This record gives sequence, structure tokens and C-alpha cells, in this order.
Amino acid sequence: MVIKLGVLLSGSGSTLQNILDLSRRKDLDANVVCVIGSRETAYGLERARLQNVPALAIPRKDYPDTAAFSDAIWRELRRHEVDLVVLAGFMSLITVPADFAHRIMNVHPALVPAFCGQGMYGHHVHEAVLAYGAKITGVTVHFVDEHYDHGPIILQEAVPVLENDTPDTLAERVQAKEREMYPRAIQLFADGRLKVEGRLVRIL
Ligand code: GAR
Repeated sequence: MVIKLGVLLSGSGSTLQNILDLSRRKDLDANVVCVIGSRETAYGLERARLQNVPALAIPRKDYPDTAAFSDAIWRELRRHEVDLVVLAGFMSLITVPADFAHRIMNVHPALVPAFCGQGMYGHHVHEAVLAYGAKITGVTVHFVDEHYDHGPIILQEAVPVLENDTPDTLAERVQAKEREMYPRAIQLFADGRLKVEGRLVRIL
């Protein structure tokens, strides 16, 4: 089945671009039907518009709290009848309404529960991994709950940290892994192969 995706982002949108490219080549059974940015200036919104995908900003700063901000986002996603919501460098906390439970995914550029949580995003993660002297990091794709980087883990794979790594070289290696794993998780969802049992996600 080809599913309808809603994508939430805050930044450059390279994660979105990867999904759009795969979808256009029919290498992913998913169409992006709506992109929402938490900042008007997020370049990801521009990437969506360039491919004629409906894109709008719902700026976090326009809302007094997480609940009001989230309501505006869910209203828009329901209007587009999305099957799955994909966080793609989305830096704000959102509530998870019952009708979207286990229908929201996030990718985190480390091995959760290490190097994750509030403030741990993008480059901050790779800087923290290097500062700690960790020898392994990785990628985690998980369902989203109401805490940062916390819901049931769908896919998780390791990436080596090399002695001469800088945050940039490490980010590049981790993001290459993300580009392969995130679509794989979306495809598993589209194929109805993900079964959540508490914190455990079974791949059928
Ligand atoms: C990605 O590397 C993603 O793993 C990370 O932000 C980057 C977004 O890049 N997400 C997090 O750190 C979530 N805690 P993009 O804006 O170019 O898609």
C-alpha cells in the first residue's frame, strides 16, 4: 500500500529531501502530502514547495504552550488524512493525541538512550559523543511519545567513531546511515510489519 506521509521539520530538510527523492523514484511506498515547519525560515519548507508538496509554517513562537502548538499541527495533519507522521529534524516537543499513537516516527543520530533528550539534536549530539570519547555511536528510529527521543525503538544500528573524527565527519557517516534506515522503517510501516507491544516493536 502507498501511504500518505506528513513531515514535520525545523531546519534544512535534508531528511525530507531523501524521502522525497525515494518517493518520486517509487523506491518507497509513501507520498509526502504535507510538510509543516516549526519556523518560517526552515529551508525544508522551500524544498517541499520546489516539488509542489503543500508546505506551511506553524511557528512554535506563535503559540503559548505545547498543547496549543500541537493542536494546530494535528488539525492540519488530520485535514490531509496522513497515515504516518515523520519527524525530520523537528526540534519542538509535541503532544501525541490518541489517534496518532504509534503513527509518528523520529530519527535520532545516536544510540538511544545515550546522547539524547532535550537539547541533544543535530551537531550537539556528535559533539557530545566525541567529547565523551565514545567509540561507537549510531542511529535510532523510534515511535514518538511525549518525551524527547523516548518512544519504542523500531530500528537501531551502530556507527563507529574514528580517532580523527570531527563533529562534521562523524555527522556525515551517521547521516549516511540515517538515509538508508529511515526509509526502511517507513517501508516496514507501509507494509504493516510493525507491531508495538509495550516498549518492544516487533518486526513481522
Ligand atoms: C538529522 O541528522 C536528524 O538525525 C537530527 O537532525 C538532523 C536533521 O537534519 N535529529 C535529531 O537530532 C532529533 N533529536 P535535516 O534538518 O537536514 O533533515
